[in-house]
Amino acid sequence: MSIKVTQIPGPKVEEIAREERELLATSTKCWDTPAGPVEAKGIYFRDKDGNVLMDWTNGMVVILGHNHPRWNESVIDQINKFVYFNGPDFVYDVQKEAAKILTQITPGNWKKKVFFCNSGTEANEAAMKLARISQKKNLIIGFLGAFHGRTQGSLSVTASKSVQRKGYTSYLNNSFSVPYPYCYRCWYNMTYPSCDLYCIRVIERYFQHNLPPDDVAAFIFEPVQGEGGYIVPPQESFKLLKSILDKYGILMIADEVQTGFGKSGYMFASSYFGVEPDIITIAKAISNGLPMGATVFRASLDFKEQGMHSNTFGGNPLSCRSLIEVYNIIQEESLLKRVVDMGNYFKQKLYELMENSRTIGDVRVLGMLIGIEFVKDRSTKEPAKEIRDFVVKRAYEKGLLLLSCGQSVIRITASYIITQQEIDEGIRIIKEAVEEAEKLFL
Ligand SMILES: Cc1ncc(COP(=O)(O)O)c(C=O)c1O
Repeated sequence: MSIKVTQIPGPKVEEIAREERELLATSTKCWDTPAGPVEAKGIYFRDKDGNVLMDWTNGMVVILGHNHPRWNESVIDQINKFVYFNGPDFVYDVQKEAAKILTQITPGNWKKKVFFCNSGTEANEAAMKLARISQKKNLIIGFLGAFHGRTQGSLSVTASKSVQRKGYTSYLNNSFSVPYPYCYRCWYNMTYPSCDLYCIRVIERYFQHNLPPDDVAAFIFEPVQGEGGYIVPPQESFKLLKSILDKYGILMIADEVQTGFGKSGYMFASSYFGVEPDIITIAKAISNGLPMGATVFRASLDFKEQGMHSNTFGGNPLSCRSLIEVYNIIQEESLLKRVVDMGNYFKQKLYELMENSRTIGDVRVLGMLIGIEFVKDRSTKEPAKEIRDFVVKRAYEKGLLLLSCGQSVIRITASYIITQQEIDEGIRIIKEAVEEAEKLFL
């Protein structure tokens, strides 16, 4: 497939959008760029009107793209064998094998266990329940800007956009959020490295004033904030955080729902930051598009009685088989190296783009975790949401599907199979869209 767009969105996709508006709950739908795929291959999809687009959102992120022959074969083989069986209630090989892989590849050389579920937010719910019940403490600390999910437990530590908490704040408790190491927009107006990571060091002062450390079960963090704006903190940030948490006997939970399974160029971004969290939560990429989440934790934290936590479809045979296959393909096709190589190529191209633009204030790249932040003026750094939104819309009209995040950031979450030629083509489209935006808005 290759990009081919005429009228977009065309009448058939517009019609789906109209009907979905009536049928589906108000959520996070991109009404300006509705997509409407009917078939897909690699990182391309054909919409219902026959337009072909390149997709740099890739289900955040379907590692292998669409229709990877070996993955398809494996999942179809599993369909032919057996599709359902309640993982939490019964035993079978694919579930055991998937769990074994996760215990072996996550950081930390200690005995681990796995809880399988269906989404990132559920993985975080399990992590927080484990932390609270094992430590017999209630408070969970997180970061401002964090996104951990929208169910009420996870929402307690989600602090990305206030609309996510609006109307629910009285149900959210036993949690507290502190500033994230977001150097481009430092909460304390300091500059790295002369700040000496004040944002992390200051956490101990909260312990003196309003967060009694004896009440804190865990600190949950995203190694790279995703929804918050693809923010990559200084590399030593979380080692310092871990040393503080260890001092007070507080567990560390790494939410690697967006960063896990190779996206950082490491199997888990925690490894880039040199930390071994007590609990790691994962979802999104691990099953190449099939719903799956997992909480991987120190075995000593396990629930002490049957029935304290469970679900229905966690560890279902299809998602487990998919996870095993995704992991094997990452290894056999050396995809981690590919993430690093393509990430470096993205970085070079995006830095060139930033140099030649007046509205790209920052480009952040770790592996293929990529954020482009738009500003009205590089010196004031005033967020330029309207420019970001214009670029996303124009790119779509030119055949490139993108997703936004943060206040004025575009995130690129392409599949690991993307080629240099495809990167060139997408960057050309973004460049044209940015030039048009700058003519229109500046
Ligand atoms: C870091 C992080 N944690 C948790 C979640 C929630 O995952 P889900 O939407 O699968 O519940 C997300 C989703 O974007 C995420 O990015």
